Parts: sequence; C-alpha cells; structure tokens
Amino acid sequence: MTTTLAIANQKGGVAKTTSVASLGAALAELGHSVLLVDLDPQACLTFSLGIDPEDLGLSVHHVLTQGLDPLEVIVTTEDGVDLLPATIELARAEAELLTRTGREQVLAAVLSDLDEALAGTEDGGYDWVLLDCPPSLGVLTVAALTAADGVLVPLQCETLSHRGVGQLLDTVHDVRRFTNRGLEVWGVLPTLYDARTQHARTVLDTISQTYDLEVVEPPIPKTIRFAEAPAVGRSILSTSRSSKGAAAYRAAAESLLRRAERPRPTPDPPRKAGRTTARSSRKPS
Ligand SMILES: Nc1ncnc2c1ncn2[C@@H]1O[C@H](COP(=O)(O)OP(=O)(O)O)[C@@H](O)[C@H]1O
Ligand SMILES: [Mg+2]
Repeated sequence: MTTTLAIANQKGGVAKTTSVASLGAALAELGHSVLLVDLDPQACLTFSLGIDPEDLGLSVHHVLTQGLDPLEVIVTTEDGVDLLPATIELARAEAELLTRTGREQVLAAVLSDLDEALAGTEDGGYDWVLLDCPPSLGVLTVAALTAADGVLVPLQCETLSHRGVGQLLDTVHDVRRFTNRGLEVWGVLPTLYDARTQHARTVLDTISQTYDLEVVEPPIPKTIRFAEAPAVGRSILSTSRSSKGAAAYRAAAESLLRRAERPRPTPDPPRKAGRTTARSSRKPS
C-alpha cells in the first residue's frame, strides 16, 4: 500500500524541499520505492536532484492540466528515487486549474490512476509518494493535501514560526471537511534546528502544545552541508553520508515508517450540508 505524504508549510525557506529530497533518499536506502512530486513552480526539488528544468519538455504541469500520463514524465534520479519534475510552467497551473471543476482532486486522481497502472507491473506501485508543496496555500497545496494520507509540517523553530501554522491547520481542516476526510496531520518536523540554544526547544514546545501537534523526531540540525548538496544534484545523504544532518534525516525517515504503521482512522461520516463546525486550530495566546 502506498503512503502519500504532503510536506507543506506556506512559509518559504523552512526546508520543505530539502526534507522531501532527504527523506526520499533515506526511505530509498531502506529499500522502499519512492516517488517525489515537485509541486513548486520554482522547481527547486527538480534542480536539486540533478535535473535542469530547462531541459524538460514535459513536466508535472502537463500531467495536471492536460491529462498527460505521469509515466511519460517521471524520471529516475541518482538518489534512487523517482521524480515527477516541475518547470516554471507550473506557475500557470494555478490559474489554469482555478476555473476547473474538481481541481482539488486533480493530483489525487493522477496518483490513483498511476497506482492502478503500476499495480499490474512487476515492481508494483510506489511504497511512498512525497509531495513537495509550494510556499503558498493555493490550488497546488490544496491539491496535494487532498491527495495525501498525511501532512508533515517542516518548521524552523524561531520566534515568529507559529505565525502561519494556524492558517495551515485551518486549510487542513477545510480539506478534511470538503475534499479528503482521511487526511491526518503527522506533525511538525523541526528543521534548521540549533540545538545549542534553549530558544529553539522552547519555540518547538510552545507550538506543539498550542496546536496539539506531534513532533517528528529527531530535529534536523542546521549545518552548512545542506547548502552544498543541491549544487551537485544529490541529496545530503549521498554528498555527506556520515554528517549529522544525513543521520538526522535517516532517523526521521524511520519515525515516518513507524508512523505509517499506525492504523488509519475510519473517516467521520459526511456532515450534513449547512452545519457549521468550530475550526480545529487555536490561535496561540
Ligand atoms: N538543516 C539545514 N541546515 C542548513 N541549511 C539548510 C538546512 N535545511 C535546508 N537548508 C537550506 O535552507 C534553504 C531553504 O531550504 P528549502 O528546502 O529550499 O526550503 P523550502 O522548500 O521550504 O523553501 C536552502 O538553501 C537549503 O539548502
Ligand atoms: Mg521548496
């Protein structure tokens, strides 16, 4: 069975893309088949895995907006994971999808068709699909949350990091209500973590308590190694195999494997139209 995980946070620079590449590589090292989906028009994931978006004729944009078979676009990377790449063209997808019926479901439908197509093949479907979300709560992020079993929120533990978490959880709440009742919040993954200060731990504890969020351990330490990896088109797991950062992502991947083994909840029965419910998230006091 495939586990589809959206890595989302509308804040930029919190290590969404780095986490997708590194967790994907770590899961692949553990023998899992992994597909990464680049949903950011800036195509940083695609680039960081050694593929120049400018060289691509076809990308996830054509899959989402023109119904192209993803198997015609998916590439294998040196990190041992497959990638559904993006190009800058994806920037148009938001606008193009905005007028489409069922736009929230577009990625869910693509992935479910893909799963069906692969089920008959020798290798079968993917064990893991990781979705690298753009830094916004627009159509593409909602489509990712709609396609996912879980959402993981990379979080840089700084004073202002809680701003936005409530908004993201409100979006998750809406997705659960309208488009994907099975979506589960897997928790926050502390990134760019500075263990030398008490401050990061305090911020992390405050956020996880305020929003009742699990923390996926261990925190990913801030290290210069991460800056070097994308330039050579490999994740830190290959460029700096024994670094603290690589070890942390390997351990975080093991946490995800344990999380995936938890039984999935049976979704609530559909609500009657017109009934309003309180939003799940609370604003920090
Ligand atoms: N643990 C880390 N230590 C140091 N730099 C990091 C770490 N994780 C990510 N970075 C760097 O931070 C920047 C933003 O990361 P990125 O994954 O692109 O974030 P996002 O996808 O959320 O915008 C990149 O330059 C990346 O190399
Ligand atoms: Mg990114």
